[in-house]
Parts: sequence; C-alpha cells; structure tokens
Amino acid sequence: MKVLITGSNGLLGQKLVDLLKARSNINLIATARGIDRYPDQTGYLYESLDITNAEEVKLIVAKHKPDAVINTAAMTNVDACETEREACDLLNIQAVKYLVEACNLFNTHIIHLSTDFIFDGTHGPLTESEIPKPLSYYGESKLKGEKTVMEYSNNWSIVRTILVYGIVSDMSRSNIVLWAKNSLESGKQINVVADQFRTPTLAEDLALGCLLIAEKKANGIYNISGNDFMSVFDLVYRVADFWKLDKSLLNLASSDGIKQPAKRPPITGFRLDKAMHDLGYIPHSFEEGLALLDQQLTKLITHNS
Ligand SMILES: NC(=O)c1ccc[n+]([C@@H]2O[C@H](COP(=O)([O-])OP(=O)(O)OC[C@H]3O[C@@H](n4cnc5c(N)ncnc54)[C@H](OP(=O)(O)O)[C@@H]3O)[C@@H](O)[C@H]2O)c1
Repeated sequence: MKVLITGSNGLLGQKLVDLLKARSNINLIATARGIDRYPDQTGYLYESLDITNAEEVKLIVAKHKPDAVINTAAMTNVDACETEREACDLLNIQAVKYLVEACNLFNTHIIHLSTDFIFDGTHGPLTESEIPKPLSYYGESKLKGEKTVMEYSNNWSIVRTILVYGIVSDMSRSNIVLWAKNSLESGKQINVVADQFRTPTLAEDLALGCLLIAEKKANGIYNISGNDFMSVFDLVYRVADFWKLDKSLLNLASSDGIKQPAKRPPITGFRLDKAMHDLGYIPHSFEEGLALLDQQLTKLITHNS
C-alpha cells in the first residue's frame, strides 16, 4: 500500500513516519513544507509540499497515485487562528479542498485530521454523532474542513482527536505534558485550569489509529484519542506524580481567569467504542503514555550528550 502524508514535520507527522517506514507492506511518501526535519531520512521518499499550493498538490498526488493520503498539516495554534483568519482559512479549509480534488482523480482514500474543538463543550465524553458547535475560529475552520471532505470526497475518513502529547527529536514543539514537566522541573509556579475536561491522546496511538483506518479502508468519522477522561488540572497533577515533581507549584485556575484570544470548550473527551469495534483500536492508558515518553526522553538525552 502506498501512503502519502502531509505535514510530516509536525508531531503526528513525525510519529507517522516512525510507524509507517517500519512497515514492510507500506510504501511511504512523506511531505512537508520546506526541508525534511525527520532525523533518519531512510526507508521512505520525501517531497517538499506546501498544501496551500493547488498545482503542487495536484502534481505530487498525480506523480505518486497513493492509495491513501493522511492530511496532518494544519494551522494548529488555536489563538493564532483567532487573529490570523485568512491564513487559517487557507490551510484548514481551502487546502483541504485541493487535497480532496487531487485524491478524487485517483480514487485515493483521504484521511483528514480534525479536533474536539468543533464542539461547544457542554458535556462529554462524546460519540461521533454529536452535533458540532465551535466556540473558536480554529474550531470553526476545522469543522468547515470536515464539511469540505464530506461534501467533495468520494473516499474519505475524518479522524477527530484531542490534546495530543508526545516527543519528537527536534523538540521544537511543546505540548501540555512537556510544558508541565519542564515548568515544574525548573521550579516555576503554574496556573492550571480545573474546569476543562479531556481524554488526552498519546501521539503514537493517534498514528496507529490513522494506520488502522488506512489498512482497513474504513470510511466515515472516527474518534481517536486516549480513553482516560480527566480535567487539565488532574492531567498536570498526574504528570507531577509520575516524575515526582513538586505539586505545590500547581495553582488551581479557572478558564475565566486565563486570558486567551480563543475560547476553549469546557468539557470534551471522546467515546472510542466505534474505533475499538471497527478498527481494534486500543489506546495506552495515560500513565503508560507517560512511561513511553520517559523512555524516549532518556534515549534522546543519552543520544545528545
Ligand atoms: N496537537 C493537538 O493537540 C491536536 C488536537 C486536536 C486535533 N489536532 C489535529 O491533528 C492534526 C495534526 O496535529 P499536530 O499536533 O501534528 O500539529 P503540528 O505539530 O502543529 O503539525 C502541523 C504541521 O503542519 C505543517 N504545515 C503548516 N502549513 C503547511 C503547509 N502550507 N503545507 C504543508 N504543511 C504545513 C506544519 O509545518 P511546520 O512544522 O513547517 O510549521 C506542521 O509540521 C492537525 O490537523 C490538528 O488540527 C491536533
């Protein structure tokens, strides 16, 4: 099977490269903006691809005619989307249309990533059939991206995910777990919201969920996240507990007290019954995820020293 991924320099992108290049039944074409930042550039093909360029998208898809395209590229900074709306529309909506149109020419299965931020957060955990109602421009743009896929594609899946954590070798991007760990290790007091609830996702689990969808040619919407439902405060508390860090540095906060341009949904979290039943998807527990991260960090530190 030939699989092309977009945004291969991102968190999910790098985990997909890890996973797919190791599979002997998969021919991987990794694509990203500019140069390839994956550390060991063997075992797959790399093409530079800016997905906001319709011609480039068409050319690369026509050149490789993949069986599946996994679209991880997106404008993912929620607050930047609130203020830079044109750029957000271009990447999260318009570019999705370019990909869908190119995929339709070769009956390529498009697997498109979306988010829990399409919901207003009044309750959770949520199933795939919940009615979306975004609170932020990011959420709105991702919902429009989903609608573009559903309306125009002949062969599609949408993968909704939540609060992804993990580590990639260039360490250029942070996420909630790394932020909490690094802040507490440096003795910084941190304010953490107790009124937002999620099912955080290990990046490796998300990559595996995407692969299962591609292999099983599963169409439709799939929730792919962790299965442990917790408040963000509880999440950070569990991070502190795992690495034996000073919990007195944690200050309970509420969303109203934290000034951010974009509104976050209070309660989300996903029910995973569909992915478990159709795909055999079984995520790691949150503490298993932290243990994996710990091993990877140790390896990275040893490698860099
Ligand atoms: N991370 C989360 O917590 C989370 C939660 C819910 C949903 N999601 C969704 O999951 C998907 C993957 O997220 P992620 O965490 O892997 O995000 P990420 O680390 O921010 O990766 C996104 C990648 O998209 C690339 N990109 C930006 N503009 C591009 C363009 N014009 N052409 C090609 N690539 C471009 C970025 O490239 P550069 O590296 O060069 O900037 C980046 O590597 C996204 O669709 C996101 O909306 C993520």
